[in-house]
Amino acid sequence: MTPAQLIVLDLAVATLTAAAWLGAAAAAAARRPRAAAALLATALVATLGRAGSVAALSGSGWWFVQEKVTLVLPMVGGTGLTAALVAGPRLIRAARHGGPAPGTAAVVTLFAAGYAALAGLACTVLAGYPATAGGALVTVAAAGAATLVTWRFVAPAPSALRLWAGAAALATGITGAGVAGAGPAGAADAGGGPPSDHAHGHGVPVTSLRGPTTPEPGGTVRRYTLTARTATVTLSSGRRVEAWTFDGTVPGPPLTATEGDLVEVRLRNADIARGVTLHWHGYDVPAGEDGVPGMTQEAVTPGGEFTYRFRAEQTGTYWYHTHQVSDIGVRMGLYGTLVVHPRGPAAEGLDLTLPVHAFDGTTVFGGHDRPAEHRAAPGAPVRLRLVNTDNTPRRFTLTGTAFRVVAVDGRDVSGPGELERTAVTLAAGGRYDLAFPMPARPVALLAGDNPAGGVRLRPDGSTPPSPVRNSGEDTGEDTGDWPELDLTRYGTPAAGGDAAPWTAFDRDFTLVLDRGLALVDGVPMYAQTVNGRAFPAIPAQLVRENDLVRVTVVNRGLEVHPWHLHGHTVTVLSRNGRPVTGSPLRLDTFDVRPGEVWQVAFRATNPGLWMNHCHNLTHVTQGMALHLAYEGVTTPFEGAHGG
Ligand code: C2O
Ligand code: CU
Repeated sequence: MTPAQLIVLDLAVATLTAAAWLGAAAAAAARRPRAAAALLATALVATLGRAGSVAALSGSGWWFVQEKVTLVLPMVGGTGLTAALVAGPRLIRAARHGGPAPGTAAVVTLFAAGYAALAGLACTVLAGYPATAGGALVTVAAAGAATLVTWRFVAPAPSALRLWAGAAALATGITGAGVAGAGPAGAADAGGGPPSDHAHGHGVPVTSLRGPTTPEPGGTVRRYTLTARTATVTLSSGRRVEAWTFDGTVPGPPLTATEGDLVEVRLRNADIARGVTLHWHGYDVPAGEDGVPGMTQEAVTPGGEFTYRFRAEQTGTYWYHTHQVSDIGVRMGLYGTLVVHPRGPAAEGLDLTLPVHAFDGTTVFGGHDRPAEHRAAPGAPVRLRLVNTDNTPRRFTLTGTAFRVVAVDGRDVSGPGELERTAVTLAAGGRYDLAFPMPARPVALLAGDNPAGGVRLRPDGSTPPSPVRNSGEDTGEDTGDWPELDLTRYGTPAAGGDAAPWTAFDRDFTLVLDRGLALVDGVPMYAQTVNGRAFPAIPAQLVRENDLVRVTVVNRGLEVHPWHLHGHTVTVLSRNGRPVTGSPLRLDTFDVRPGEVWQVAFRATNPGLWMNHCHNLTHVTQGMALHLAYEGVTTPFEGAHGG
């Protein structure tokens, strides 16, 4: 079973356990000993099953089972055993011989086991990892209080003892809630390295960490002005959509440069009332150019402007997007692509940059909601630069040709092998460059296995499809069952150079992703949490320049979290404990699927304050964001925000 299936199985067994104990209790209370005995037997089996499912889940790591092992199983096991011993013999006797109905003790102990199972389930779903003393107190108090209330109703008359016990349960709960809510919020996590040394830090404001103002020798200045404004855009089908745009188009103008150029982008805001910034996704710009409102700059408000400058030192496929209310801004259209070509003669053939986006309910490739058609001479090299600008993973297939994945997140893959009838799934924010020589027959790029959508390539000289149907005829190809490429086993290990020795880490951080009750900017909600907290209460990860940093990202929940660190490229060490065996995998965004554990590493060589967040931007507004902070770097802005 996959780790995700184990999570679901464990939740199902936990639910069954609670239902069986509560059912047995209710049947006993209703004086139906036969049903109660049967349900008690079910409950015992389910409780044992729960121990089994927790044991199986523990194989994925302690993070997945901590509260279950330390609290839930002992609580359910203890109350369940008591109930079985107290109620079991009476129920059996009553069921067999029609003896006296099971008494108060039987009913109350059965309810106690049911409430314990229910409270344990709530503890997993609402609190999760890490288990805290406060959370444990609240859980026990909730089960205890419910039992006492039940006792009050089942027993003939309330006693003073029960009143006192009730008061005690309530007090425990309140204390626990207090302890749970009063953790040291927002303090930095030094990841096992030296803590912040204030004498050491010189207090460099992040706003002073700006890019150079000249290109490298031999480079040129690429000057762009992007004006953010609302507009009605017309898609290729003629459909009109209200959007937030750069220069009136969605996606915004494609930015290109050659390695060594200076990229200079003047951002102006005409009328985006919520404000706008530019973030260079995957591009490791100086921190002051990173476009994070409230941290590296103030958001640009209508009438305002901000000029970004950085050298095009990384080649490959990247994208830009607003980082101000990014959940809404990106969805509404404030994004575009950034492609940096290596120096030397331009590549021959067809080179397409294809940002894919869910725009107003339809999938658009660039500005096309109907398949666009391109032509290439048979044998000519084709490069398709796929960019997933959405919040969730996107699956692509290529029919009519074999291909290679030559770059991922802008970084070249070493020794990419030829693939056929294989799907590629891009994380939210991720990019794959697919390359192949144009065959003598048509090629279709499909998104989500939709044979009627995507992009069409035709060999030069072939007859175009009938003008009525125009491009985008249904390929008729069913790609739904094509397997998915596993990048951790694709390509060949690099020969020296790239393969840094990833050992002796200066800092070691763990991020456990889940859902739970937490304060998001002071508002209690069922948040997307990191180590049980939500933004801005998640401790910042503290590093010093040149530290070698390892980060373990664990997904305890049932949603995919595309993890994205600003300003750094991470190298993947392992996924689910299995090391990367193919090409070195250098990414800026990686999908941590339910139950998965990723270990990644990077060298801290880009001083600043950086966002480290889930790139499902809805999850950011629900709290799933934190900071990576270089010691001594400060921000003059209040309330550093990712949302
Ligand atoms: Cu693509 Cu913090 O963003
Ligand atoms: Cu997420």
